[in-house]
Amino acid sequence: MKRNKIVIFDTTLRDGEQCPGASMNLREKLEVARQLARLKVDVIEAGFPVISEGDFSAVQTISKEIKGPTICGLARCVSKDIEAAGEAVQPAGKKGRIHVFLATSKIHREFKLGKARDEIIRLAVKGVEQAKSMVKDVEFSPEDGSRTEPEFLIEVCKATIEAGATTINIPDTVGWAVPDQFADLIRELYEAVPDFQSGKAIISVHCHNDLGFAVANSLAAVQAGARQVECTVNGIGERAGNAALEELVMALKTRSDFYEGITCGVHTKQIVNASRLVSRMSSLIVQRNKAIVGENAFAHASGIHQDGMLKHRSTYEIMNPEDVGWADTELPLTKHSGRAAVTARLKQLGFKTVDLDLDSVFVRFKDIGDKKKFVYDDDLIALVENQFTEVPETWTLDYLNVTCGNQTVPTATVRLKKSSSETGKSKAKGETVISDAGIGDGPVDAALKAIDRLTQKRGILKEYIIRSVSQGKDALGEVSVKVDFGDGELIAGKGASTDIIEASARAYLNAVNRVLSASGKRKKKSTQP
Ligand code: KIV
Ligand code: ZN
Repeated sequence: MKRNKIVIFDTTLRDGEQCPGASMNLREKLEVARQLARLKVDVIEAGFPVISEGDFSAVQTISKEIKGPTICGLARCVSKDIEAAGEAVQPAGKKGRIHVFLATSKIHREFKLGKARDEIIRLAVKGVEQAKSMVKDVEFSPEDGSRTEPEFLIEVCKATIEAGATTINIPDTVGWAVPDQFADLIRELYEAVPDFQSGKAIISVHCHNDLGFAVANSLAAVQAGARQVECTVNGIGERAGNAALEELVMALKTRSDFYEGITCGVHTKQIVNASRLVSRMSSLIVQRNKAIVGENAFAHASGIHQDGMLKHRSTYEIMNPEDVGWADTELPLTKHSGRAAVTARLKQLGFKTVDLDLDSVFVRFKDIGDKKKFVYDDDLIALVENQFTEVPETWTLDYLNVTCGNQTVPTATVRLKKSSSETGKSKAKGETVISDAGIGDGPVDAALKAIDRLTQKRGILKEYIIRSVSQGKDALGEVSVKVDFGDGELIAGKGASTDIIEASARAYLNAVNRVLSASGKRKKKSTQP
């Protein structure tokens, strides 16, 4: 019995976060989870609890706080993984899911696991049974499913359903599948496993985008009987990413004539908000021409198109931009706007104001209002989101002066405050103020070199992105950096200011503070008994 409602399983916080440099802190993950709940996804895969304390507490906190979607934790077919996942999703009660996976393809069996088929089945069944003893809702993924011999995959599906799995997810782990062939595989599974036909278990798909087919493969699978799709906002994820949620959802909605009654419960007007939030929280910029959520997705530049649009929108527009949350008009705030107006706008934008430090948001708002005529929604969002990306501020920027020009050696003088307290909150007693200067091939280079001298950290800037948060010459500039502090790991940092050199210095310091906070936590952990 094929149901026509597709389960939207969002893995932005797990597979999406696996993308290099996209890691988010707890506060950032919680904010994304809240937005996913507003978007009305059915399942949030919130992390891989066994891999770190951070992942464990993210899954646990999201399980406690988020109402509506099912909350899922990932686990290998290993006892300690399953225990950690079960414990982390426990606060979600009946809405907790454990997702266990084990590779099944010949290439993984031989080269990665060194295990024969019957051993794989035994471990998969054991893993599902253990998960089932902790939660009712168990998903099993035969990793590299698309490259697994179909007859073996059928055996795995039957055995794991028998053991208690109610969702069997077929991953195209390496993005190898092509739509027709993938649909044939899903159809073969559907026809060979009676429990899929009866509805005792459903088929899910999880497609990666290495050949650019992630969305096409997922939709082909839906036509062949899959009833859950795994996806991420903006398509972020390992390597080339995962199937993009917004594309899947809007394809089903816009081409409902073709997908004949197949629907999903996503609240599409929240798509753009979700895309922007994920982009900011993960520091991954959305390309301008990205379908649905790119800046150009609904911009009609050519004269012929504009003329057609004016005569009748449907000549060149297949979707209504408002349906995905592109707002048409916005009344900006100004420095004269009071606290109540700012708070009301924050609520309208979907923030939970009780969780915010409204005093500091309001101080920053006034500060920006003094410098620029209008404070747009995006400015306000950037101010608030700065609170989420905050890490203990070991170093804070106290003073910055740069001299530059086409006839001058760019020079920066920087004064930093160093807090010696563990939380990074500067207490007068534990605070040192030091200054130094640096020269560079430009003002940003000079400022960052001065920061390196002061903090004794040698960072290599691997990525530097600057964007204007809102409109106008006086717009707030937001800088996102990815820095390698010598161990190959990319540490993200963000900073915003109407002065782009200051924004750059703040972003770089944010990365320095992040790496210090992470190494502090590691030290503390290694000294624990
Ligand atoms: O791509 C993959 O195979 C995965 C599994 C854990 C589902 O992410
Ligand atoms: Zn994946």
